[in-house]
Amino acid sequence: MDLYEYQARDVFEKHGVPVLPGIVATTPAEAKAAAEQLGGGTVVVKAQVKTGGRGKAGGVKLAHSPSEAEAAAQAILGMDIKGHTVHRVMIAAGAKIAQEFYFSVLLDRAERRYLAMCSYEGGMEIEELAVERPEALAKVAIDPLEGIDKAKALEIVAEASFPEALRNKVADVIVRLWHVYKNEDATLVEVNPLVLTEDGEVIALDGKVTLDENAEFRHEDHAALEDKAAADPLEAKAKHMNLNYVKLDGSVGIIGNGAGLVMSTLDVVAYAGEQFGGVKPANFLDIGGGASAEVMANGLDVILHDPQVKSVFVNVFGGITSCVAVADGIVGALETLGDEASKPLVVRLDGNAVEEGRAILARANHPLVTIVETMDGAAAKAAELAAS
Ligand SMILES: Nc1ncnc2c1ncn2[C@@H]1O[C@H](COP(=O)(O)OP(=O)(O)O)[C@@H](O)[C@H]1O
Ligand SMILES: [Mg+2]
Repeated sequence: MDLYEYQARDVFEKHGVPVLPGIVATTPAEAKAAAEQLGGGTVVVKAQVKTGGRGKAGGVKLAHSPSEAEAAAQAILGMDIKGHTVHRVMIAAGAKIAQEFYFSVLLDRAERRYLAMCSYEGGMEIEELAVERPEALAKVAIDPLEGIDKAKALEIVAEASFPEALRNKVADVIVRLWHVYKNEDATLVEVNPLVLTEDGEVIALDGKVTLDENAEFRHEDHAALEDKAAADPLEAKAKHMNLNYVKLDGSVGIIGNGAGLVMSTLDVVAYAGEQFGGVKPANFLDIGGGASAEVMANGLDVILHDPQVKSVFVNVFGGITSCVAVADGIVGALETLGDEASKPLVVRLDGNAVEEGRAILARANHPLVTIVETMDGAAAKAAELAAS
């Protein structure tokens, strides 16, 4: 789960990372009041969207008075930044920036450890810096069991060529950012820019934090950070039903058992869809091993309520679960859904007790169901139905 900047700011503050005061506003009037609350001086009005490059897009504006903050909020609220509509702004105290730096720590899956990245040259898009001046971006491997202590932090800033006089101060902040990373179970903590102010303070002026959802069970407070309004309603419904569902952009609904099978089903459908003008899968949905009538009904319920779905491909391989249970599940699900099941279903069953399973579907003879024996054939049929 990605956090908004204002949420990252709060989490930073909780772990002692120096940040500036910030107040969230959803209207220009609230923005004006927030600027007054911050003392009436210079503030920065910042779009709260989960994407970078807000500054370049005009989503970060300096305001020298509460009325200027109001006008800036007026301009920023409702703005579209890389496909994200701005519903909130943060009014942040204005920093007197002397220098901008970069720091991040992230999960390095391939190396099975963490990676800290740091640069003395901030203020630039990090992707650009990495390409144009890779030598200016220090990359330091972090042992998961050791983490970042003061010595490691000093090694990082030395590697990033910080001048001696600054190293201690910046290293202290890096250690605290590590505490955020570790104690909140994050997979990314990025600060761009980390700044040195004219008063000689080191402050995190922007924050990007990704929390590991697999660790939710040990962070009761993380649920409150979830942006329920922005979440896809179908994904929310599927989550409520305990289904492994991810909404995609295409028009062929997919149900399968086992993540591997569902992933390859997505590929096969996308491939078959090329013949029909680029038909694509509408979702990922893994109903797991059981495939009972209830789980099948829940899965179909979610998929059939996706207005983009034109056809559904049910691809089940009976392993421990026999195809009889799966076929009973499909027939039961269609009965449960009644008139709500209104889109053609292509079913491919194989594996354990396949003949009996197919016989059950044939006997039910549901007008919306087509049985196809092979995965490729079924994918082509589903794509064709979605295109017609
Ligand atoms: N509180 C602040 N005070 C002064 N300048 C700021 C403040 N917040 C951001 N800025 C300036 O705006 C730039 C862009 O803001 P930032 O929060 O990094 O957004 P983004 O990375 O999405 O463009 C920063 O690099 C910094 O120069
Ligand atoms: Mg930034």
